[in-house]
Amino acid sequence: MQLPTTLQNALERMIASQPASALERTALQLSARYRGTGSGAPVIATTLEAVAYAAWRMPGTYAALRAVFRRLAEVQPDFTPKRMLDIGAGSGAAIWAATEQWPSLQQVVAIERQPAMARIGKQLTANADLPTIVWQQQDVLTMDRLAESDLVVAGYVYGEIEPTARILVLSRLWKAAGGALVLVEPGTPTGHTTILHARSELIKRNAYLLAPCPHTAACPLAEGNDWCHFAQRIARPVFLRRLKAAEAPFEDEKFAYLIASRHEGKPIDGRIVRHPIIHSGRIELQVCTTQGIQFITVTRSQKPLWRQARTSEWGDHWSPHPTEDDSITAER
Ligand SMILES: C[S@@+](CC[C@H](N)C(=O)[O-])C[C@H]1O[C@@H](n2cnc3c(N)ncnc32)[C@H](O)[C@@H]1O
Repeated sequence: MQLPTTLQNALERMIASQPASALERTALQLSARYRGTGSGAPVIATTLEAVAYAAWRMPGTYAALRAVFRRLAEVQPDFTPKRMLDIGAGSGAAIWAATEQWPSLQQVVAIERQPAMARIGKQLTANADLPTIVWQQQDVLTMDRLAESDLVVAGYVYGEIEPTARILVLSRLWKAAGGALVLVEPGTPTGHTTILHARSELIKRNAYLLAPCPHTAACPLAEGNDWCHFAQRIARPVFLRRLKAAEAPFEDEKFAYLIASRHEGKPIDGRIVRHPIIHSGRIELQVCTTQGIQFITVTRSQKPLWRQARTSEWGDHWSPHPTEDDSITAER
């Protein structure tokens, strides 16, 4: 996966306008500050900080959001959102990712508390071939009513909201979601806990969970002291390699997520929650199912299943339809 060329060019121009050493220092400070968030205190205040955020984090957050929107399109191929609400829009990663997925999008309302971030988001999206974007520099906590939208997105922001205010914010987001609500958080144990909290609240509100969960029972990974997360690889633009002093031409963004909807999606049997392990003649899959986590071994002799397992990746749904010749070895 790569950043859209227009976005990458706009980022390059923006980064070139800042002194390189100050940008690098600020990005490192931000990264450290982000590891300590969750108190609701603003992390980004200045233009330099907003540019550093966009340079350091936007490729990763774009990648995760793009991957999650693909998951939504997989389970609801007929979903063609026109209006999107982006909460904590920051530098606008979700807007770019959603536009790539759904050309149907016509209008985005982008809510961002920090003026410097809203300015950077606006600057990056100006003159780009994107839906009409209405930027609102506001704190979502002070907004009683949010614009009803087909798609509501909170990318890497729900965990930044003070814990005591999260249920109220979630209620407002869900109320505004005429179609789907998408939450994305870092792929850490904390990110998963944040998602789990939202998940239980949304189940109480009769939301359909479209992904990643194939069920609404308790999360078996959490019960096993593990955490549910996924990864998306993205090409590192030159500016990011320079900023991180990194050699690798790509990075893997780890994320946790939840897609809740007003409407049912295609049913899935399970979700692959780890990289499949490929041996000669057999593939081992760890799959979250209604029966909990299943360790499934598919052998080369199980022809249709083998073909399916060979093309399956971490994060894909697993909905095998074995023939009479196929037998699955599954152990808890
Ligand atoms: C980690 S950044 C994520 C930005 C963007 N969504 C992304 O995925 O790259 C979180 C953003 O949410 C904004 N934010 C945090 N709390 C907010 C609130 N209560 N109301 C509006 N924006 C908020 C922050 O200012 C910041 O720009």
